[in-house]
Amino acid sequence: MSKASTFSAPKGVPDYVPAQSAEFVAVRDGLTRAARLAGYGHIELPIFEDTGLFARGVGESTDVVSKEMYTFADRGDRSVTLRPEGTAGVMRAVIEHGLDRGQLPVKLSYAGPFFRYERPQAGRYRQLQQVGVEAIGVDDPALDAEVIAIADAGFRSLGLDGFRLEITSLGDGTCRPQYRELLQQFLFGLPLDEETRRRAEINPLRVLDDKRPDVKAMTADAPLMLDHLSDSAKAHFDEVLSHLDALGVPYVVNPRMVRGLDYYTKTTFEFVHDGLGAQSGIGGGGRYDGLMEQLGGQALSGIGFGLGVDRTILALAAEGKTAGNPARCEVYGVPMGDAAKAALVPVAHRLRAAGIRVDLAYGGRGVKGAMKAADKSGAVVALVLGERELEAGEIVIKDLRNGEQQTVPLADVVARVGEVVAGG
Ligand code: HAM
Repeated sequence: MSKASTFSAPKGVPDYVPAQSAEFVAVRDGLTRAARLAGYGHIELPIFEDTGLFARGVGESTDVVSKEMYTFADRGDRSVTLRPEGTAGVMRAVIEHGLDRGQLPVKLSYAGPFFRYERPQAGRYRQLQQVGVEAIGVDDPALDAEVIAIADAGFRSLGLDGFRLEITSLGDGTCRPQYRELLQQFLFGLPLDEETRRRAEINPLRVLDDKRPDVKAMTADAPLMLDHLSDSAKAHFDEVLSHLDALGVPYVVNPRMVRGLDYYTKTTFEFVHDGLGAQSGIGGGGRYDGLMEQLGGQALSGIGFGLGVDRTILALAAEGKTAGNPARCEVYGVPMGDAAKAALVPVAHRLRAAGIRVDLAYGGRGVKGAMKAADKSGAVVALVLGERELEAGEIVIKDLRNGEQQTVPLADVVARVGEVVAGG
């Protein structure tokens, strides 16, 4: 039994400890690898930024900014906020470092924790982990399709397949304001309660996302952005879909999709997994063509995604799958006695230098306990060193997969262990 700690992790914040942490790393690295294969360079961003960046970038009317930010004054009385998402910070860094003056598109990827003060529940955390990409400076439907295909390939590389891609277009600077007005006219004609009416004034699209059955019924015939796209936004969307067809990436058009962030324009998408209950979004993203200018940079377009690492792990579990190898090491050293241990420590060191993952039994526990520890570690080879072998300048290599063992000269141990590990 583990002893109860005086402290526990903050509410809604998951820990990842072995063996599950191996899965966390595999999911994060698998999703990141998909981006690397398409030429996205790593960007490491600060965990906190000037509060104004998120207020301006993500949008004051969003839940994320108005209700969920971890905002505090630092000791210099500056208002800072733990990053609730990655796109605004990437834009800030791109402008600050002049990356937008170089070759376009600027392609960046990132991974790490984000913070939202949401009500914790299954799959909804206050510290959440994302892998994201942003491609900035080229407004090309083929790039939209690339970004989406990377996410799709990333999920599939982990063995996940029970998800669907939902996609829509939120229009551009010409058609969106007109549509907004049209939608507001429609909504103001409905018998909405006070709060919903206010929402219709600030962000009418949100009302289409209302889950209450009566509101849903009332808005069933609401005008949809997809039916009111400008010619160029429509052409852009059609081209994205035909690129996805050519790439063999399946999708469903969902004209009522609403994203929780304000910066989206044109292509907008979400990856949804039905095995997760209410928190079904395993990833999402889209275009944000006005964001950079809004943050004081050039008028450059952009598109990207954020994929939820925590939810991807849950989705894998829902499909009865896991990712990663929880084995801590490949080889486990079992010394019998102090002299053997003194000899085994440098052997472990040499094996590590040769790139083989090694641990050994410390603390003078008996051979039985050490062999048990070897099994638990996930090692495929036990290196057993007793007094007799020590005197003879030899060591026993035991293959834990089939129980076979051989005695080899200590001088050859690195090569021979390497053979056994690789031969399994
Ligand atoms: P988002 O949809 O807010 O987009 O978050 C992306 C993903 O992060 C979600 O689909 C979900 O898997 C995960 N996620 C969000 N909140 C939580 C939470 N409380 N607990 C667990 N997982 C969560 C963005 O953040 C945008 N920055 C994505 C983007 C990049 N758009 C363009 N570029």
